[in-house]
Amino acid sequence: MSKTKTIYVCQECGYESPKWLGKCPECGHWNTMIEEITSKELEIHKMKKSFQDIPKSLTDIDVTEERRITSEIEEFDRILGQGLVRNSVVLVGGEPGIGKSTLLLQVSSRYCTKNTKILYVSAEESIKQTKIRANRLEVNFKNLFVVNQTNLDVILEYINRLSPDIVIIDSIQTIYRPDLNSTAGSISQVRECAAELSYLAKVRNFTLFLVGHVTKEGAIAGPKVLEHIVDTVLYFEGDRHHNYRILRAVKNRFGSTNEVGIFEMTDRGLKEVKNPSDIFLSERPEDTSGSVVAATLEGSRPILVEIQALVSFSGYPQPSRRTTGVDYNKVNLLIAVLEKRLKFKLFNKDIFVNVAGGVKLQEPATDLAVVCAISSSSKDIPIERDVVVFGEVGLGGEVRAVTHPKKRIEEAERLGFKKCVMPSGNSKGLSLRQDTGIKLIPVNTIYSALKEVLKPTGK
Ligand code: TYD
Ligand code: MG
Repeated sequence: MSKTKTIYVCQECGYESPKWLGKCPECGHWNTMIEEITSKELEIHKMKKSFQDIPKSLTDIDVTEERRITSEIEEFDRILGQGLVRNSVVLVGGEPGIGKSTLLLQVSSRYCTKNTKILYVSAEESIKQTKIRANRLEVNFKNLFVVNQTNLDVILEYINRLSPDIVIIDSIQTIYRPDLNSTAGSISQVRECAAELSYLAKVRNFTLFLVGHVTKEGAIAGPKVLEHIVDTVLYFEGDRHHNYRILRAVKNRFGSTNEVGIFEMTDRGLKEVKNPSDIFLSERPEDTSGSVVAATLEGSRPILVEIQALVSFSGYPQPSRRTTGVDYNKVNLLIAVLEKRLKFKLFNKDIFVNVAGGVKLQEPATDLAVVCAISSSSKDIPIERDVVVFGEVGLGGEVRAVTHPKKRIEEAERLGFKKCVMPSGNSKGLSLRQDTGIKLIPVNTIYSALKEVLKPTGK
């Protein structure tokens, strides 16, 4: 009989403790420790595995260029770093209904044309449902095998028999190891199943895709715990009510992180969006205060987005501050900078800041655009349509240099913008084309930036 012991595992970060704790000492979350039962045999099994590799001298390790398979879906290949590395493990996370299964089925169909054998373990849906989706996506290949199975032992048997090049597990939360006492979806199940499959991927030479659900709070057992087991982590962003989906590489052992792929969900699956700036700017309002275009960079790629702010008198003692797409705390900080350095009176104003198109921005280079949008709405002076803005804002109200100014300026020029308000620190050593059609306006402080963008027009 297997000996079992009880441990407590944090649902947020996977921290293990022999006794229950109210607060996780690793990630600091409260009430996240849950009881799990592990078997002694499992631990011995884990130990045996780790003894299989003997240490090698650094000089003896030879590195051959990894072999990559491309899907010809440019947006997808780029985030993986020019294609999928063979034998790697990729986690695709995102909220339910965002399009994970759709993407993987579409990607599979592309890999199938490259003579690869794929096993799609559709653990959540019946194989009929998968077929219906495949019909909708017009995917039909002989070498794409689909099975509805949740027992890991059986799945491993299928892998042994079929010897696939790619295995897709949709989703890891529904798979269970029968020798573990906990239920499918619990931390230990998710982690052990993923570890077992990843190990097999390296031994049996196949590439593994794991699908993992996250709720809005990122709470459910899964993706967060798996991040360190896998080679690449891709997260789907955007919400189900918008058609645009952003796939972001938050970890990549074989490429740069923070690359994004942009897709649009259509009635025939996900379509690549090759020129996102064109789309994000297509619905800009005319002559309205509080709207400005920011030149941001997502990974290696410049994207122009509209930032909107609405500043209005608050009817409540505690004014409301809401943001979508930009960090709430950062916006509060920028409001404080405006109040302190430029004597704006915003303490009795409701302030809403929004990034059009459902995009989430994380770059400090959007600070200046947020400041311009809030100021424009507060003073009710529209910013000219052909102005683009980028720069980080410091607590003293200074405008600081950011990375890759040239890429941002060139994208703005391509889209027909005529003026670019940017940090002075970025204007030195810029080698733009001689005949560039965009006028650069370097600024040191938010004061000079606002003087440039908030020129009252004839209105
Ligand atoms: P799905 O891939 O099932 O999401 P997930 O696996 O992340 O849970 O797709 C979810 C949504 O996408 C679903 O509401 C239906 C919609 N959809 C389309 O709009 N067009 C399509 O071609 C497909 C296949 C799905
Ligand atoms: Mg799904």
